[in-house]
Amino acid sequence: MPIYLDHAATTPLRREALDAMLPYLDGDFGNASSLHSFGRRARAGMDEAHEKVAKAIGATAREIVFTSGGTEANNLAVKGAAWAAKARGHRIITTSVEHHSVGHTVRYLEKFGFEIVELPVDRYGRVDPDDVANAITPKTILVSVMLANNEVGTIQPIAEIAARVAAHKGILFHVDAVQAAPYLEIDVTALGVDLLTMAAHKFEGPKGVGALYLRHGTNILAQQQGGAQERYRRAGTENVAGAVGMAAALELSAAERSETSPRLIALRDGLVAALVSVPGVELTGHPTDRLPGLASFVVTGVEGSSVTMALDLAGVAASTGSACVSGSTEVSHVLSAMGYPEDEARGALRLSLGRTTTAAEVTEAADATARTIATQRAATDRLRVEKITSLRPAESAAAEFEAETHDVAGSSQR
Ligand SMILES: Cc1ncc(COP(=O)(O)O)c(C=O)c1O
Repeated sequence: MPIYLDHAATTPLRREALDAMLPYLDGDFGNASSLHSFGRRARAGMDEAHEKVAKAIGATAREIVFTSGGTEANNLAVKGAAWAAKARGHRIITTSVEHHSVGHTVRYLEKFGFEIVELPVDRYGRVDPDDVANAITPKTILVSVMLANNEVGTIQPIAEIAARVAAHKGILFHVDAVQAAPYLEIDVTALGVDLLTMAAHKFEGPKGVGALYLRHGTNILAQQQGGAQERYRRAGTENVAGAVGMAAALELSAAERSETSPRLIALRDGLVAALVSVPGVELTGHPTDRLPGLASFVVTGVEGSSVTMALDLAGVAASTGSACVSGSTEVSHVLSAMGYPEDEARGALRLSLGRTTTAAEVTEAADATARTIATQRAATDRLRVEKITSLRPAESAAAEFEAETHDVAGSSQR
């Protein structure tokens, strides 16, 4: 069985969540809006799911809107808040390291006259709360900052940012907590947020279901028109099994968090120590304020995509960063914003652990990764020699190869 170290992309569905879902995929198949007994059973499932998700984040049931995932919840939060406040202002503040479901959404809104301020981050991917404060003007209507980054795991100082936002009247604060939800305590009051996004498949719930927390009294414009579901905030027949599965998974994830997170931190630290001891491997993201299970690196002298493909053949599932852009030749916007030049960003590698990851898997994956980096570097060097020898006379090619390999070895010592 291959070792799965891509929990930031998605997690397996846990048995308890599946068991909670099965009745709603079988006998309790009713439409939650129907008045007969089938509908009432489905409605009861939805009601309980609202209660459970709300309880896990310190909210009330009616403040939860189920969606088709993190992407839809982010779209609903950002577009919904922007359009609802348009008469008061048009300025939206966000960061340069958001997931595309926020980053591309604000760029879309820009086409309709909204002004987008994308704040820079430091080398670790952190935004300065004072930069948020300085960017606020009387026209600001929304601030959107993620709780933890999906590519490098850096945790943002959300409570400090919330305090800066709350110093002004009428600005909504949205937080994308999709990656953070399984591992960091989420209390919407302590965090000081008005809107918060989660996705079930990041904490062993089903894919295609998420939730938006919407503080009571927060005005947003629904982005789907249709029925009265989710109190008019998200039209469409509810995914009852999905909501129930999400609630079951979140409840367990929150209950186990105090055991899961420290264990993952210890495993991750071991993995990081093993890999940064390989010359030319650098940890990306904040060294300590980072997600418990997320280890991210840049590896000099290789393409991250080649390393992940070779690792896959070696029985380890890893990633270069965001699952949403892998397969494209685009370099990570997160690493670029953190100041990594394109050639370094191309060496991105992410290994993300989850609740079910074992110490033995981490040890084996660390060895396999170190070996794979070495073989990939050797292959890159071989390719370079072949290219040079096919173009130049033998002697000058040998001299050039020596100079180049010296360069690679030199840069990998940094
Ligand atoms: C930080 C972050 N936000 C939003 C999303 C989108 O969530 P979904 O895949 O449920 O649409 C992801 C998914 O990877 C994510 O990592």
